[in-house]
Amino acid sequence: MFKEATVFAPVVTNDQGRVSVIFSADHPGYRDEEYQKHRARIADAALGYRLGEPVPEISYTPAEDEIWRAVSAELLSKHRQHACRQYLIGRNLLPFPSDRLPQLGEVSAAVRRLTGFTFSPAAGLVEQEDFYGSLADRRFQATQYIRHSSFPRFSPEPDMIHEVVGHGTHLANQRLADLYQLVGETVRRLETREAISLISRVFWFTFEYGLVLEDGVTKACGASLLSSCGELEKYHQADIRPLDIVAMASQKYLIQQFQPVLFRADSFSHFEDFLCGFLTTLQDDSPLVAA
Ligand SMILES: [Fe+2]
Repeated sequence: MFKEATVFAPVVTNDQGRVSVIFSADHPGYRDEEYQKHRARIADAALGYRLGEPVPEISYTPAEDEIWRAVSAELLSKHRQHACRQYLIGRNLLPFPSDRLPQLGEVSAAVRRLTGFTFSPAAGLVEQEDFYGSLADRRFQATQYIRHSSFPRFSPEPDMIHEVVGHGTHLANQRLADLYQLVGETVRRLETREAISLISRVFWFTFEYGLVLEDGVTKACGASLLSSCGELEKYHQADIRPLDIVAMASQKYLIQQFQPVLFRADSFSHFEDFLCGFLTTLQDDSPLVAA
Protein backbone atom coordinates (compact mmCIF):
# COMPACT_ATOMS: atom_id res chain seq x y z
CA MET A 1 0.00 0.00 0.00
CA PHE A 2 1.43 3.37 -0.85
CA LYS A 3 0.47 6.82 0.21
CA GLU A 4 -1.92 7.85 -2.55
CA ALA A 5 -3.99 4.73 -2.04
CA THR A 6 -4.64 5.20 1.65
CA VAL A 7 -6.71 8.35 1.72
CA PHE A 8 -9.75 6.41 2.88
CA ALA A 9 -8.91 4.74 6.15
CA PRO A 10 -5.85 5.85 8.10
CA VAL A 11 -4.63 3.75 11.03
CA VAL A 12 -4.13 5.52 14.37
CA THR A 13 -2.82 4.43 17.76
CA ASN A 14 -4.13 6.29 20.82
CA ASP A 15 -2.25 7.15 24.02
CA GLN A 16 -3.18 3.78 25.55
CA GLY A 17 -1.74 1.94 22.54
CA ARG A 18 -5.15 1.01 21.15
CA VAL A 19 -5.13 0.74 17.36
CA SER A 20 -8.10 1.81 15.28
CA VAL A 21 -8.84 2.49 11.63
CA ILE A 22 -10.61 5.75 10.78
CA PHE A 23 -13.32 5.34 8.17
CA SER A 24 -14.78 8.30 6.33
CA ALA A 25 -18.57 8.57 6.01
CA ASP A 26 -18.51 7.40 2.38
CA HIS A 27 -16.49 4.24 3.13
CA PRO A 28 -18.59 1.07 2.66
CA GLY A 29 -17.60 -0.09 6.17
CA TYR A 30 -18.47 3.21 7.89
CA ARG A 31 -21.54 1.84 9.71
CA ASP A 32 -20.25 -1.69 10.23
CA GLU A 33 -18.78 -1.87 13.72
CA GLU A 34 -17.70 -5.53 13.41
CA TYR A 35 -15.83 -4.80 10.19
CA GLN A 36 -14.10 -1.84 11.83
CA LYS A 37 -12.99 -3.96 14.80
CA HIS A 38 -11.74 -6.64 12.42
CA ARG A 39 -9.77 -4.06 10.43
CA ALA A 40 -8.27 -2.72 13.67
CA ARG A 41 -7.12 -6.22 14.70
CA ILE A 42 -5.48 -6.73 11.30
CA ALA A 43 -3.77 -3.32 11.49
CA ASP A 44 -2.61 -4.06 15.04
CA ALA A 45 -1.02 -7.35 13.91
CA ALA A 46 0.82 -5.56 11.10
CA LEU A 47 2.09 -2.84 13.45
CA GLY A 48 3.54 -5.56 15.70
CA TYR A 49 5.32 -7.25 12.81
CA ARG A 50 9.12 -7.19 12.64
CA LEU A 51 11.16 -8.03 9.56
CA GLY A 52 12.21 -11.67 9.44
CA GLU A 53 9.21 -12.88 11.43
CA PRO A 54 6.46 -14.97 9.80
CA VAL A 55 3.67 -12.83 8.36
CA PRO A 56 0.81 -12.73 10.93
CA GLU A 57 -2.03 -15.17 10.28
CA ILE A 58 -5.43 -13.47 10.01
CA SER A 59 -8.71 -15.14 10.96
CA TYR A 60 -10.89 -14.33 7.99
CA THR A 61 -14.64 -14.76 8.31
CA PRO A 62 -16.75 -17.08 6.13
CA ALA A 63 -18.22 -13.93 4.55
CA GLU A 64 -14.73 -12.76 3.60
CA ASP A 65 -13.90 -16.16 2.11
CA GLU A 66 -17.08 -15.81 0.08
CA ILE A 67 -16.04 -12.37 -1.25
CA TRP A 68 -12.72 -13.89 -2.33
CA ARG A 69 -14.42 -16.92 -3.90
CA ALA A 70 -16.85 -14.82 -5.93
CA VAL A 71 -14.48 -12.04 -6.98
CA SER A 72 -11.48 -14.25 -7.75
CA ALA A 73 -13.66 -16.53 -9.91
CA GLU A 74 -15.00 -13.55 -11.86
CA LEU A 75 -11.51 -12.12 -12.26
CA LEU A 76 -10.11 -15.44 -13.47
CA SER A 77 -12.75 -15.56 -16.14
CA LYS A 78 -12.06 -11.96 -17.20
CA HIS A 79 -8.30 -12.52 -17.24
CA ARG A 80 -8.64 -15.10 -20.00
CA GLN A 81 -9.96 -12.35 -22.25
CA HIS A 82 -8.23 -9.22 -21.00
CA ALA A 83 -4.87 -10.06 -19.37
CA CYS A 84 -1.56 -9.69 -21.18
CA ARG A 85 0.58 -12.80 -21.68
CA GLN A 86 3.19 -11.97 -19.04
CA TYR A 87 0.48 -11.58 -16.42
CA LEU A 88 -1.00 -14.94 -17.42
CA ILE A 89 2.45 -16.54 -17.08
CA GLY A 90 2.59 -15.30 -13.49
CA ARG A 91 -0.96 -16.45 -12.94
CA ASN A 92 -0.13 -19.98 -14.06
CA LEU A 93 2.91 -20.09 -11.82
CA LEU A 94 1.00 -18.84 -8.77
CA PRO A 95 -2.35 -20.61 -8.46
CA PHE A 96 -4.63 -19.33 -5.68
CA PRO A 97 -7.13 -21.28 -3.59
CA SER A 98 -10.56 -20.75 -5.11
CA ASP A 99 -12.63 -21.42 -1.99
CA ARG A 100 -10.94 -19.30 0.67
CA LEU A 101 -8.92 -16.14 1.10
CA PRO A 102 -5.24 -17.15 1.17
CA GLN A 103 -2.96 -16.01 3.96
CA LEU A 104 -0.45 -13.36 2.88
CA GLY A 105 2.28 -15.55 4.40
CA GLU A 106 1.50 -18.49 2.12
CA VAL A 107 1.43 -16.23 -0.94
CA SER A 108 4.75 -14.75 0.15
CA ALA A 109 6.34 -18.22 0.48
CA ALA A 110 5.09 -19.26 -2.95
CA VAL A 111 6.30 -16.05 -4.64
CA ARG A 112 9.65 -16.33 -2.89
CA ARG A 113 10.22 -19.77 -4.43
CA LEU A 114 9.52 -18.32 -7.89
CA THR A 115 11.36 -14.98 -7.95
CA GLY A 116 12.77 -14.32 -4.49
CA PHE A 117 10.19 -11.61 -3.75
CA THR A 118 8.45 -11.68 -0.36
CA PHE A 119 5.48 -9.85 1.15
CA SER A 120 5.48 -8.08 4.48
CA PRO A 121 2.35 -6.69 6.16
CA ALA A 122 1.48 -2.98 6.06
CA ALA A 123 -0.95 -1.66 8.66
CA GLY A 124 -1.88 1.37 6.61
CA LEU A 125 -0.06 4.28 5.10
CA VAL A 126 3.52 3.59 4.04
CA GLU A 127 5.57 6.57 2.92
CA GLN A 128 6.58 6.45 -0.72
CA GLU A 129 10.32 6.21 -0.05
CA ASP A 130 9.79 3.25 2.29
CA PHE A 131 7.22 1.50 0.11
CA TYR A 132 9.17 1.75 -3.15
CA GLY A 133 12.58 1.43 -1.49
CA SER A 134 11.75 -1.99 -0.04
CA LEU A 135 11.26 -3.26 -3.60
CA ALA A 136 15.05 -3.03 -3.94
CA ASP A 137 15.23 -5.83 -1.35
CA ARG A 138 12.61 -7.77 -3.32
CA ARG A 139 10.06 -7.08 -0.60
CA PHE A 140 6.53 -5.81 -1.20
CA GLN A 141 4.58 -4.20 1.65
CA ALA A 142 0.95 -5.27 1.45
CA THR A 143 -2.32 -4.94 3.32
CA GLN A 144 -4.03 -8.04 4.74
CA TYR A 145 -7.66 -6.94 4.92
CA ILE A 146 -10.32 -7.50 2.30
CA ARG A 147 -12.89 -5.00 1.02
CA HIS A 148 -16.31 -4.59 2.64
CA SER A 149 -18.92 -7.09 1.45
CA SER A 150 -21.37 -4.37 0.41
CA PHE A 151 -19.09 -3.21 -2.40
CA PRO A 152 -17.26 -6.32 -3.69
CA ARG A 153 -16.48 -5.42 -7.30
CA PHE A 154 -14.25 -2.39 -6.78
CA SER A 155 -12.16 -1.26 -3.84
CA PRO A 156 -10.62 2.20 -3.61
CA GLU A 157 -8.26 0.74 -1.01
CA PRO A 158 -5.58 -1.77 -1.94
CA ASP A 159 -7.00 -4.88 -0.23
CA MET A 160 -5.92 -8.55 -0.38
CA ILE A 161 -7.62 -9.07 -3.74
CA HIS A 162 -5.54 -6.25 -5.18
CA GLU A 163 -2.31 -7.21 -3.44
CA VAL A 164 -2.48 -10.93 -4.21
CA VAL A 165 -4.28 -11.13 -7.57
CA GLY A 166 -2.62 -7.95 -8.86
CA HIS A 167 0.86 -7.60 -7.38
CA GLY A 168 1.31 -11.24 -6.29
CA THR A 169 0.80 -12.39 -9.86
CA HIS A 170 3.19 -9.72 -11.15
CA LEU A 171 5.84 -10.76 -8.65
CA ALA A 172 5.52 -14.42 -9.63
CA ASN A 173 6.75 -13.41 -13.11
CA GLN A 174 10.53 -12.97 -13.30
CA ARG A 175 10.44 -10.17 -15.87
CA LEU A 176 7.94 -8.12 -13.89
CA ALA A 177 9.65 -8.90 -10.58
CA ASP A 178 12.93 -7.57 -12.00
CA LEU A 179 11.18 -4.33 -13.02
CA TYR A 180 9.75 -3.92 -9.51
CA GLN A 181 13.24 -4.35 -8.07
CA LEU A 182 14.59 -1.73 -10.47
CA VAL A 183 11.96 0.71 -9.18
CA GLY A 184 13.25 0.10 -5.66
CA GLU A 185 16.88 0.50 -6.63
CA THR A 186 16.10 3.75 -8.42
CA VAL A 187 14.25 5.17 -5.43
CA ARG A 188 17.17 4.24 -3.17
CA ARG A 189 19.63 5.90 -5.61
CA LEU A 190 17.72 9.19 -5.72
CA GLU A 191 17.41 11.71 -2.91
CA THR A 192 14.68 14.21 -3.67
CA ARG A 193 11.03 13.90 -2.83
CA GLU A 194 10.22 15.27 -6.29
CA ALA A 195 12.10 12.49 -8.09
CA ILE A 196 10.37 9.81 -6.01
CA SER A 197 7.03 11.46 -6.63
CA LEU A 198 7.68 11.28 -10.39
CA ILE A 199 8.50 7.55 -10.09
CA SER A 200 5.25 7.08 -8.16
CA ARG A 201 3.24 8.70 -10.98
CA VAL A 202 4.92 6.56 -13.62
CA PHE A 203 4.38 3.45 -11.42
CA TRP A 204 0.69 4.32 -11.26
CA PHE A 205 0.27 4.49 -15.04
CA THR A 206 2.38 1.36 -15.75
CA PHE A 207 2.51 -1.22 -12.94
CA GLU A 208 -0.98 -0.28 -11.73
CA TYR A 209 -2.83 0.79 -14.88
CA GLY A 210 -0.57 -0.06 -17.83
CA LEU A 211 -1.88 -1.57 -21.07
CA VAL A 212 0.01 -3.66 -23.63
CA LEU A 213 -0.79 -4.21 -27.30
CA GLU A 214 -0.73 -7.91 -28.29
CA ASP A 215 -1.61 -9.07 -31.82
CA GLY A 216 -3.48 -5.82 -32.42
CA VAL A 217 -5.54 -6.18 -29.23
CA THR A 218 -5.20 -3.96 -26.15
CA LYS A 219 -4.57 -6.10 -23.06
CA ALA A 220 -4.39 -5.17 -19.38
CA CYS A 221 -1.04 -5.39 -17.64
CA GLY A 222 -1.47 -3.21 -14.54
CA ALA A 223 -2.22 -4.72 -11.12
CA SER A 224 -5.10 -2.36 -10.40
CA LEU A 225 -6.83 -3.14 -13.68
CA LEU A 226 -6.33 -6.88 -13.28
CA SER A 227 -7.68 -6.96 -9.72
CA SER A 228 -10.86 -5.03 -10.46
CA CYS A 229 -13.85 -6.62 -12.21
CA GLY A 230 -15.25 -3.16 -12.86
CA GLU A 231 -12.05 -1.74 -14.35
CA LEU A 232 -11.67 -4.75 -16.66
CA GLU A 233 -15.07 -3.97 -18.13
CA LYS A 234 -14.30 -0.28 -18.65
CA TYR A 235 -10.66 0.16 -19.64
CA HIS A 236 -11.38 -0.07 -23.36
CA GLN A 237 -13.50 3.07 -23.01
CA ALA A 238 -10.60 5.10 -21.61
CA ASP A 239 -8.65 7.64 -23.64
CA ILE A 240 -5.73 5.33 -24.52
CA ARG A 241 -2.41 7.04 -25.26
CA PRO A 242 1.14 5.87 -26.08
CA LEU A 243 3.65 5.53 -23.23
CA ASP A 244 5.05 8.98 -22.52
CA ILE A 245 6.82 10.11 -19.34
CA VAL A 246 6.01 13.79 -19.90
CA ALA A 247 2.33 13.02 -20.35
CA MET A 248 2.27 10.73 -17.29
CA ALA A 249 3.97 13.38 -15.19
CA SER A 250 1.21 15.88 -15.87
CA GLN A 251 -1.78 13.56 -16.18
CA LYS A 252 -4.29 13.75 -13.33
CA TYR A 253 -5.28 10.39 -11.90
CA LEU A 254 -8.24 9.27 -9.87
CA ILE A 255 -7.91 6.96 -6.89
CA GLN A 256 -11.54 6.25 -6.15
CA GLN A 257 -12.92 6.11 -9.68
CA PHE A 258 -12.21 4.43 -12.98
CA GLN A 259 -9.24 5.95 -14.81
CA PRO A 260 -10.24 8.20 -17.75
CA VAL A 261 -6.77 8.18 -19.38
CA LEU A 262 -4.55 5.10 -19.74
CA PHE A 263 -1.18 4.48 -21.41
CA ARG A 264 -0.39 1.56 -23.71
CA ALA A 265 2.91 -0.07 -24.67
CA ASP A 266 3.33 -1.48 -28.19
CA SER A 267 4.43 -4.81 -26.66
CA PHE A 268 5.62 -6.15 -23.32
CA SER A 269 9.24 -5.65 -24.44
CA HIS A 270 8.36 -2.02 -25.14
CA PHE A 271 6.86 -1.81 -21.64
CA GLU A 272 10.13 -3.14 -20.19
CA ASP A 273 12.37 -0.92 -22.33
CA PHE A 274 10.32 2.16 -21.51
CA LEU A 275 10.57 1.56 -17.75
CA CYS A 276 14.23 0.53 -17.80
CA GLY A 277 15.14 3.60 -19.87
CA PHE A 278 13.26 5.93 -17.54
CA LEU A 279 14.46 4.38 -14.28
CA THR A 280 18.13 3.95 -15.16
CA THR A 281 18.57 7.49 -16.51
CA LEU A 282 16.47 9.45 -14.01
CA GLN A 283 18.45 11.88 -11.88
CA ASP A 284 17.40 14.21 -9.09
CA ASP A 285 18.10 17.16 -11.38
CA SER A 286 16.42 15.73 -14.50
CA PRO A 287 14.35 18.48 -16.18
CA LEU A 288 11.09 16.60 -15.62
CA VAL A 289 11.78 16.31 -11.88
CA ALA A 290 12.46 19.99 -11.61
CA ALA A 291 9.39 20.91 -13.69
FE1 LIG B 1 -1.10 -1.53 -6.03
